[in-house]
Amino acid sequence: KGCKLIGCGSAIPTLQVSNDDLAKIVDTNDEWISVRTGIRNRHVLSGKDSLTGLAVEAARKALEMAQVDPEDLDLVLLCTSTPEDLFGSAPQIQKALGCKNNPLAYDITAACSGFVLGLVSAACHIRGGFNNVLIVGADSLSRYVDWTDRGTCILFGDAAGAVVMQACGAEDDGLFAFDLHSDGDGQRHLNASVNENETDHALGTNGSVRDFPPKQSSYSCIQMNGKEVFRFAVRCVPQSIESSLEKAGLTGSSIDWLLLHQANQRIIDAVATRLEIPRERVLSNLANYGNTSAASIPLALDEAVRSGKVKPGHMIATAGFGAGLTWGSAIIRW
Ligand code: ACO
Repeated sequence: KGCKLIGCGSAIPTLQVSNDDLAKIVDTNDEWISVRTGIRNRHVLSGKDSLTGLAVEAARKALEMAQVDPEDLDLVLLCTSTPEDLFGSAPQIQKALGCKNNPLAYDITAACSGFVLGLVSAACHIRGGFNNVLIVGADSLSRYVDWTDRGTCILFGDAAGAVVMQACGAEDDGLFAFDLHSDGDGQRHLNASVNENETDHALGTNGSVRDFPPKQSSYSCIQMNGKEVFRFAVRCVPQSIESSLEKAGLTGSSIDWLLLHQANQRIIDAVATRLEIPRERVLSNLANYGNTSAASIPLALDEAVRSGKVKPGHMIATAGFGAGLTWGSAIIRW
């Protein structure tokens, strides 16, 4: 059984924050941010905006393009590390879409690799019998950024992107190969952990309860060693894509587009160079949106499809990488 991608959509908050706007709140400037990252602008949730609302908007557009009714969905996957409910927000998307048959809906938490994991998980469910799967990548890292830390607050933006995947014959299969990894040891380089004093507080060293009842937990802001994350990305992402290409029996020259998680233009350029994929076959929109975590791949895909760059039948090498650490790639056909 095959699975094909038949629709995409995206949504961004209205509030825009330029590099110059950031220079008013932290010691930075447009030139530093543009040269080091390629980012010029980002969109940030404000007022009554909600991440679930963005996710629903992106999902509706993808379903419309796919011409699939919400009630024909078998599964809603929400790839996010920033749900608006600790227990998961996917069921809220399912509810808002009005899926009458109560399809399964659950969250996948894998930071900026989330969407690639979502694609692979959706394909596994389809090979197991499902027909129509909605995959949404949505994140609001602006809620977890320390807006006084110029090393991280310049990087992130909020967005949602979605695709619809549908069962098809093996000859139309749109997921050729994938390669997925995690390295918990690298978590020290990038995390937003439960505040330590609160976990210490709940349990003593021998596991006995030290204080009861425990305090309500909260998360620290995003902590990142940018240099280590950069090194990890330029080392692991090309290896992963090469592995996926090899499994698919393809080479970089048979790929129409390289579509990486949009974290840093220098990472995108380094990976493209290593894979010998020329700039004109690399999709990039992070200048306008920054790093939107699990949303970045479907957001860039949606723009490229709607602008006519990515056409039916095009082969795309895609890869996500980020906190966990997690990374992974997939070779897909639009
Ligand atoms: N403006 C001006 N100066 C700055 C800024 C800023 N916004 N941020 C840091 N600097 C300064 C530093 O203080 C340092 O100054 P010093 O030399 O006086 O100490 C200098 O610039 C260099 O700082 P570095 O951190 O070494 O700069 P680097 O070249 O590594 O760039 C960056 C930093 C852009 C964060 C880069 O390391 C990077 O992009 N790393 C990858 C990040 C990434 O992709 N994260 C993915 C997260 S995805 C997820 O899963 C959440």
